[in-house]
Amino acid sequence: MRRILVVALVLALPLAAWAETKTITLPPDSAYGALKPGPGREVTERACRSCHASDYIVMQPRGDAKQWLAVVTKMIKVFGANISPEDQKAIVEYLSRAYAP
Ligand code: HEC
Repeated sequence: MRRILVVALVLALPLAAWAETKTITLPPDSAYGALKPGPGREVTERACRSCHASDYIVMQPRGDAKQWLAVVTKMIKVFGANISPEDQKAIVEYLSRAYAP
């Protein structure tokens, strides 16, 4: 156990040094309001931004309704997004219009 601790410490030391000297500048948080205007934008913001920035959406390859349905379904089924079937429909319509191929 102690050996593991020592190894972890030794490994962490250069990391700590690196953290001290290295600065990174994050891009400005463009997320809020970054979604394109259009019907369904509000519901999309509300449903999708509870977990992550809308950058996730904006930076995706554009897609048709089938692709966006797969994305939204994944958010619901895999990540547990609380989105009603009506909202899901409105969101997919919005995304496939605003972020069409
Ligand atoms: C319950 C939380 C939650 C909600 C709500 C949510 N997402 Fe996600 N989303 C995630 C997680 C977790 C990831 C994966 C993050 C990572 O890989 O760093 C993700 C990733 C994504 C990605 C990146 C591609 C991918 O498949 O990983 C897209 C696009 C996306 N979400 C779109 C949406 C859209 C559109 C909505 C609204 C309908 C939404 N998300 C709502 C949790 C959520």
